[in-house]
Amino acid sequence: MIEPTPDEREVEQTLRPSNLSEFVGQKKVVSQIELLISAAKLHNRTPDHILLAGPPGLGKTTLAMIVAQESNRTLRLTSGPAIQSSGDLASMLSALESGDVLFIDEIHRMSRSAEEMLYLAMEDFRVDVMVGKGPGATSISLDISPFTLVGATTRSGMLPTPLRDRFGFTAFLEFYETDELEGVIERSAKRLGIELTSESIAALALRSRGTPRIANRLLRRVRDFAAVNGHTTVDLESVSGAMALFEIDSQGLDRVDRQILRLLATQFAAKPVGLSTLAVAIGEEPDTIEAVIEPYLIRIGYIQRTSRGREITQAGIQHISQS
Ligand SMILES: Nc1ncnc2c1ncn2[C@@H]1O[C@H](COP(=O)(O)OP(=O)(O)OP(=O)(O)O)[C@@H](O)[C@H]1O
Ligand SMILES: [Mg+2]
Repeated sequence: MIEPTPDEREVEQTLRPSNLSEFVGQKKVVSQIELLISAAKLHNRTPDHILLAGPPGLGKTTLAMIVAQESNRTLRLTSGPAIQSSGDLASMLSALESGDVLFIDEIHRMSRSAEEMLYLAMEDFRVDVMVGKGPGATSISLDISPFTLVGATTRSGMLPTPLRDRFGFTAFLEFYETDELEGVIERSAKRLGIELTSESIAALALRSRGTPRIANRLLRRVRDFAAVNGHTTVDLESVSGAMALFEIDSQGLDRVDRQILRLLATQFAAKPVGLSTLAVAIGEEPDTIEAVIEPYLIRIGYIQRTSRGREITQAGIQHISQS
């Protein structure tokens, strides 16, 4: 899966680029963010609110941290699921100091009432809180310090329009190109003290599903594989051995990806299938398929989304019939 495991989170901390110049790829987004930060510095104001959208593992959390770092602001972290009520959000917002960067991860999972409170906070740096209970309850308006909200979501389509509209800028992170992934792998290998041949770097990049998190994960697996087999340098043989062991194919697809392709090709006879039917067939949540698994399969042209559901393409059929 693309979500990080607990010990992976720890490694990710050490591998996270801490400023824009270390951040590999995403040239467009990087220049857009650079501009926002420079403009804010120039006018001595807090940068606009930023929404970071894209599949897991592409660098949303990393960029949120970089925004705070590059604009010399304090970062406060929270997440949508942690904000259960508008009260939770109100206390968080009123604790902010002027210029803080508030990062809300998985912002699409915030409660409705918190969302509404956030509209006003983003626009006017104000919150309305209810005082008292029952018929005597009144609402009072409190000023909060100006802040920059950075929201991250794997499901930008699930954000209500009023919330989306209040971000001054939305960055859509795209899957990384192979040469960019090579850059990610080289950088991480240096930090972790791993030696690889250049063919190994290229082979890993091709199997990273366009995703730095996966590139780093594969890197650690081939390192382990090489070490256990008594090699100090990771060569192509270790890469192939590790990939075979973990059932990752030449395109970086894993068992679940192949299971989906196979089902679409055979059981569903290459006809469009609804998301929920597909989810039941492979035993995954529809959400996971939509946000985590299928974006890359769509990107490499193996499946397509039609108005009637998901459908395997000729390229997808060809891939699965060869594996
Ligand atoms: N542009 C990049 N350059 C180098 N490393 C990167 C880059 N983007 C991401 N990474 C690496 O990939 C890992 C995952 O990135 P990050 O946690 O920022 O992803 P995310 O988009 O927040 O994922 P999720 O949606 O699961 O929260 C990081 O630990 C970092 O080391
Ligand atoms: Mg994240």
